[in-house]
Amino acid sequence: MSVEHSSVQIRPVREEDRQAVMDLASLLREGVPEWRDPEAVVEAARQWLAGHFAPERDQPGAAFVAEAEGEVAGVVSVSTQRHFTGPMEAYIGELAVAPHAARTGLGRRLLSAAEDWARQQGVSHMTLETAAGNTTARRFYAAAGYREEAIRFTRALDQPA
Ligand SMILES: CC(C)(COP(=O)(O)OP(=O)(O)OC[C@H]1O[C@@H](n2cnc3c(N)ncnc32)[C@H](O)[C@@H]1OP(=O)(O)O)[C@@H](O)C(=O)NCCC(=O)NCCS
Repeated sequence: MSVEHSSVQIRPVREEDRQAVMDLASLLREGVPEWRDPEAVVEAARQWLAGHFAPERDQPGAAFVAEAEGEVAGVVSVSTQRHFTGPMEAYIGELAVAPHAARTGLGRRLLSAAEDWARQQGVSHMTLETAAGNTTARRFYAAAGYREEAIRFTRALDQPA
């Protein structure tokens, strides 16, 4: 599947995109709380994204990049999983757009590509998680029609309540 719009192309990820995609993963530290290691978050994202490249492609799902003027400027990964209430649904693993291309609509187009993929899988909902402190992502998803569904609480046990 390929979607062309002006000079931007949204297309499935290819092996030659690997370095650019790994570089984009460093953006996924946005909003990580101080009690988590941002490098560990980025490394985990890199490993999940690496699962979308051949030959070690072992991940069910898809990944798309935004190619603008010959350069990869954004990436999204999507898969399916079962919600604990029973139905299968789609899940955005990672979404990142290079700062120089921010706010030009690439994030929205990548999200649309992931949603199209999800519809093709026959699922009725897309879901994702992002850091509570990632206000940009929260605004982005809210603007795209996403509603906040759950809140995760964390407390350090060696500190007073
Ligand atoms: C979140 C992210 C993917 C958005 O990508 P983007 O390409 O800049 O977003 P778009 O240009 O498609 O924006 C679509 C809409 O989202 C909202 N939005 C995006 N960035 C915003 C910001 N910084 N502040 C407020 N609203 C914002 C706006 O409504 C925007 O529409 P508008 O520009 O017409 O007002 C990008 O900021 C990013 O890569 N962040 C770092 C990585 C990250 O946090 N990923 C999400 C974690 S899962």
